[in-house]
Amino acid sequence: MSTTPTSLTSHEISESTRKLNYGTWRYQKGWNPLHIVDAEGCFFVDGNGKRYLDLSSQLMCVNLGHKNAAVIHAIEAQARTLPYIAPPYATDVRAELSQLLLEVLPKGLEKFFFTTSGTDANEAAFKIARLFTGKSKILARYRSYHGSTMASIGATGEFRRWPVEPSAKGQGVIFGPEVNCYKCPIGHTYPQCEIACADYLDHMIENESDVAAVVVEPVVGTNGVLVPPPEYFPRLRRICDRRGVLLIADEVMSGWGRTGKWFAVDHWNVQPDILVTAKGITSAYVPLGLCATTKRIADHFEDHFFAHGHTYEAHPMTLAPAIATIREMQRLNLVDRSRELGAYLGGKLSSLKERHPSVGDVRGLGLFWAIELVKNRTTKEPLNAKEDKLQGKPLIVDKVAAEMMKAGVSVNAWLSHFVIAPPLIIEKAEIDLAIAAFDQALSIADSCVEQ
Ligand SMILES: Cc1ncc(COP(=O)(O)O)c(C=O)c1O
Repeated sequence: MSTTPTSLTSHEISESTRKLNYGTWRYQKGWNPLHIVDAEGCFFVDGNGKRYLDLSSQLMCVNLGHKNAAVIHAIEAQARTLPYIAPPYATDVRAELSQLLLEVLPKGLEKFFFTTSGTDANEAAFKIARLFTGKSKILARYRSYHGSTMASIGATGEFRRWPVEPSAKGQGVIFGPEVNCYKCPIGHTYPQCEIACADYLDHMIENESDVAAVVVEPVVGTNGVLVPPPEYFPRLRRICDRRGVLLIADEVMSGWGRTGKWFAVDHWNVQPDILVTAKGITSAYVPLGLCATTKRIADHFEDHFFAHGHTYEAHPMTLAPAIATIREMQRLNLVDRSRELGAYLGGKLSSLKERHPSVGDVRGLGLFWAIELVKNRTTKEPLNAKEDKLQGKPLIVDKVAAEMMKAGVSVNAWLSHFVIAPPLIIEKAEIDLAIAAFDQALSIADSCVEQ
């Protein structure tokens, strides 16, 4: 039993949270939220003093690690200087952050709208794309997540959209195939496929007509760290240009050094028309999202009504820590570090495949990896189906993750894979600790493999 700043015990705090608050994306029954009291670097600490290695940076967002002193200082200083002023006013922090964004974002993105999450940054992107093009449809892909509000869940390809349909069926949203070279949604094999999945999007745009934009996660995150082959993005860019359709890169998770470049599209030198991001922009210390557009789009709104805004747009308390985050990333050289340590992490994760028959695929880029578990390496059938999650059935990946928690390693588990995205400051010894925990815990999944 630990003492806490309140008079409640750790157990009572967990109980209160369970009773009075909603657990996200789950049945409420069975939610047992662990009481967390502290976090530093790559670790967080529960109410009993137990430390956990944060192998997924919480929700793939605490890229700088916990309690970065410079970011905390920026929050404190901004609270003393100017905690809030409404969006119509100019502020030091808005000007400074915008100048910095011009340095680190892919070239060509030159005008910025700030939000308070990735979800509403996508909402802004869809609205801007529709206002700019005068067209209505948004083409998204099936294995994708773009946010939880009506427009963004409506453009989300994965199963979290299902329970809220038909009311949340995104008006004008259509879905095409994702790029997944491990298990191709249209049954092809790379490279003989010649990127048929991109050409299929072209076919859809031609036959749908009225398509305003294609929205893609350049490296799909929650849905399995799907890394496209090198030809994919240049091809998609050409398709969008030929068809007069905007390309929206949703870099909420893949941005900010996660993949070993500032942004994932930088791997393929592709310039999106709109880039959406959040999470790592402040290392998640405060809620900030960004919708960045080209000058061509910006110019349109010089004499057209920009029909969007929020009370908290460009909130100074969110912008100051973003400046500090970017400067810390530069000072610590974290983008290069993500690439270097990513090679080490990838090698270690790949070795798990040799020892564990349940591991079907290991893939990733930078410090962004997935381990996909299968019942059978030939059929590639996952250990659990989407329906299992929606019906609240216990998932094998959750059992493996629970075993890892016992060993002091926290990892994000999703359907039949893990998303491994540690803080970019992680050390090799911490990676080794995580691999040892996987080696132990994966025996649970190995016992479910078909003989
Ligand atoms: C690719 C992507 N887009 C959008 C979102 C939604 O962002 P937020 O949770 O900040 O609203 C997420 C969240 O995980 C994401 O991964």
